[in-house]
Amino acid sequence: MAKFQRHIFVCVNQRPEDDPRGCCAGKDGARVAKALKKRLYDRGFRRIVRANQSYCLDQCAKGVTMVVYPEGVWYGGVTVDDVDEIIEEHIVGGRPVERLCIPESELTGREPTEIEPEETT
Ligand code: FES
Repeated sequence: MAKFQRHIFVCVNQRPEDDPRGCCAGKDGARVAKALKKRLYDRGFRRIVRANQSYCLDQCAKGVTMVVYPEGVWYGGVTVDDVDEIIEEHIVGGRPVERLCIPESELTGREPTEIEPEETT
């Protein structure tokens, strides 16, 4: 058995309707995840690229959020209509779809060196 070459996580997290952050479930995250999985399967990538639904990826206002590893490319505002382009351009062609990329400066993660000691406990 070989390792998967890529893992793609699609947020399907649901928040209360009055949450100001919004959520990916409310923006059709489950349909995006389902379409991605089906298209990958149809293209014969089932054992090469693994698509998984995820809980919150902490980019809620930018949902539907998707992240592709190992390269760590983050996509936001993804719709079902974007799935084929992501597969063709990024997964097959190795070129991230720039118009959907969340700029690194807007991501909420931090470098380990930026975390105060009390935040790690
Ligand atoms: S609800 Fe999808 S990133 Fe938070």
